[in-house]
Formats: sequence, structure tokens, C-alpha cells
Amino acid sequence: MSHVLAAVAWPYANGPRHIGHVSGFGVPSDVFSRYMRMAGHDVLMVSGTDEHGTPIQVQADKEGVTPRELADRYNRVIVEDLHGLGLSYDLFTRTTTGNHYTVVQELFEGLHRNGYIVPKVTMGAISPSTGRTLPDRYIEGTCPICGYDSARGDQCDNCGNQLDPIDLVNPRSKINGETPRFVETEHFFLDLPAFAQALGKWLDSREGWRPNVLRFSKNLLDDLQPRAITRDLEWGVPIPLEGWRDRTDKRIYVWFDAVIGYLSASIEWARRSGDPEAWRRWWDADGAGEEARGYYFMGKDNIVFHSVIWPALLLGYSGEGDRGGEPGDLGHLNLPTEVVSSEFLTMEGRKFSSSRQVVIYVRDFLERYDADALRYFIAVAGPESQDTDFTWAEFLRRNNDELVAGWGNLVNRSISMAAKNFGEIPAAGELTPRTARCWRPRRRRSRRWAA
Ligand code: MF3
Ligand code: ZN
Repeated sequence: MSHVLAAVAWPYANGPRHIGHVSGFGVPSDVFSRYMRMAGHDVLMVSGTDEHGTPIQVQADKEGVTPRELADRYNRVIVEDLHGLGLSYDLFTRTTTGNHYTVVQELFEGLHRNGYIVPKVTMGAISPSTGRTLPDRYIEGTCPICGYDSARGDQCDNCGNQLDPIDLVNPRSKINGETPRFVETEHFFLDLPAFAQALGKWLDSREGWRPNVLRFSKNLLDDLQPRAITRDLEWGVPIPLEGWRDRTDKRIYVWFDAVIGYLSASIEWARRSGDPEAWRRWWDADGAGEEARGYYFMGKDNIVFHSVIWPALLLGYSGEGDRGGEPGDLGHLNLPTEVVSSEFLTMEGRKFSSSRQVVIYVRDFLERYDADALRYFIAVAGPESQDTDFTWAEFLRRNNDELVAGWGNLVNRSISMAAKNFGEIPAAGELTPRTARCWRPRRRRSRRWAA
């Protein structure tokens, strides 16, 4: 038996979830977790809503509310979506909890102490018309690496590389098309090149990953640059260093805080369970003296954060990058066992897009169909290792011909035959030692859905 962490990507609290989202992180992680529990492992499945950064600020501005109001609203909506789908999280929390802030700042400090976080003066984008900082996501331009003409300031969705706005060729503001002005601003950087060796060793030792994910992850190591992990923004986790703590204009970058959610949620779960140290069994193999494995579920646009950034944070905090160092108070932290990334689901041949109304929301789906119909479709025809298309015709066929006519009939006939021959459905008998090993009922753990 092992301790199995099912770490599920945290949805941005900026809108309801659509079926493309849940085919990437939601249903696959739930199928995995249910299987692992049945196979006798001690599964801890955690996630929550991702509530900081420009994705939230942008949507809040659009809806004319504060980021906190927006996050509160969509946390509830998303909890309903995921609950409706029957996802079996042990804890679904939020990145705006006090516990999360504490853990994020602890990791930041630990990395800083070990020399992996360094300050640097950089060029930040300003809107010439308002004089305000233009967040990366508000900036669009041509990707300097692949030439894609609508790359975002933080990332190119075509080639997957991370970018800085100043790298973009012909940068323009998404708000009004103006050309941003770049001015000097001080930020903290994560020294990614200091992890090249350790990351390479770790990736070389991975087995059983989906080949695309492993190949993509290894390629990312070819060009590791120091990466800014703070932003000119008011909404986010404060920087826990002297002289920075009280500033209201600088915050920790949303991706730095979000990936730490896997750890902070494990800690929160342990505290709620009454055994505050229990989280360590999933995070520190040596400490527990038994095997601890971590599986991370997401869509492919999240790979870099899980196979480079997050492992780098874990290595640096544990003192295991090129600069060495000492583990902080949380002790040594395990790297992921596997980054389980899905490809994209398209809809009737087109990319999902809430803004262009190419979308099927989970809640609309569940108004008309049972969760199991959608779960079945995603399980058998989801984008596991290549992009796949959702069509209503195919959904109906899978549901009617396979789930109902095929599987449903099998169950129905077996049960009615048993009833006919025995006069009842026989009660479950004793398990043999072999089956008992696989099917031991799991200790009940409360499944919490934070409101
Ligand atoms: N909110 C991100 C997205 O929707 C995913 C965050 S996953 C985590 O793309 F690792 F940061 F938790
Ligand atoms: Zn590109």
C-alpha cells in the first residue's frame, strides 16, 4: 500500500466550468482516485479554486466587482459544478485562506534563504493612456520563438513557451490596442538555471508518463531562464521579506502561489482531520518510512508549471538545487511521481471559448443529463493522449449504444438472472484473501467542499 496524492489542477475562480475544463483535470483525476482507493491505497485528493492574479483581476474589472467578490462568487459556482459531477475530493479549498498564505510565504522564504530567489530590475509595461501597470495577460504580440501572432505576455499558447511581455514582437494592449511603454521596476526571480541538473535527473528517471508530456517537459529544460515570481499588482499574496511585506503594489505571482496549493491543501486537510502532521505521509517518503506517490492532473497548457516550476520550488525549498541549502520547517518535500496531462477537448471541431460562446457549461449539461453520462463519455472518448472532439451525436451514441445498451444491459441481465435463479439478489459473500487485499473498504474520510 502506498500513500497516493491526487493533486488536481486548481480552476481559476473567474467563471463557471465548461466540459473542456473538466475533461482535462476533473474526471480523469476522479477516475484515478476512485481506482486507487479500491486498489487499497491511501489516497489524498486535493484541490481548490485559484483566486489570485490577473485572470481574477481582469474578470473582476469586467464585472465591476472587487477581486474578492468575484472569487467568492465563482468559488461557489465551481464547487457546484464539480460537486454535480460527483468528483470525490478529500478537500476542495481556496487560495485565499490564511493557511495558504502562510504556506506560500514559508516556501518563498525558504527558497530565498537558500539563494534561489534573487531580486532584479526589469522592464515592466505601462499603459501610456492611464499610466497604470499593464499586466502580462493584457498584452498581446508576436511570439519571438514560433512567430505566432497572438501570443500572450506571459505565455505563447501556440508553442507553450513562457514569455515576458518585453520579448513580444509588436506588443499591444488587449484593452485598447495601444503600444505599452516599458519602465524599470524591481522584481524577484526564481533562479531556474540552478535546477537544470536536478530537474534533468528527475525527468530522466520518470517511467510510464504519457510520451508527449515527458518529451515536452524535457524540451523545456533546454532553455531555462530566471523567471519573475512577483508582479505589480495589488491582489495576491504579499512578499514576505523586509521592506516588501507592507507594500501594496507588489504581490507574489499567481502561479507561484497556486502550485503551492497542493501542499497547503494537504496541510489544511490534515489539520481538519485532527492530526496536523498527517500530511507528511503524502509528501515525505523518508519521513513516513513507506512509499508516497504524487500524481498531478491538468490540461496541457499547465505542463510547464508542474514539470519545471513546481519541482524547482520543491527542490529549492528542500535544499536540493545546484546551490544546495537546508530544508525549511516543513522538511524535505517529494517531487511529483507523474505529471498526468491531458490534451484538449474541442467542441464540434472548434476550440472551447467562453468569450466566443463556443462552450457547454457543466451546469447546463447536468440540467439535461446525468453526471455519469458525461463521465462515461470523458472516460472512454476524452483527450487522454491527443486532442479529441466532442459532438452531441457522438455523445448520444456513446450513451445510448454503449453505456445503456451495452454496459447497462449487462448489469441488468446479470441481476435479473440472479434474481430468477436464486429468488433474490444474493448478499455479498466473504472476500477471498486475494480480493480482500484489493477491495478492503477504506476508512471514511470527510469530503469537504469549501463554500
Ligand atoms: N488556474 C490554472 C488554470 O486554470 C491552473 C492552476 S493549477 C495549479 O489554468 F497548479 F496552479 F494549482
Ligand atoms: Zn510561440
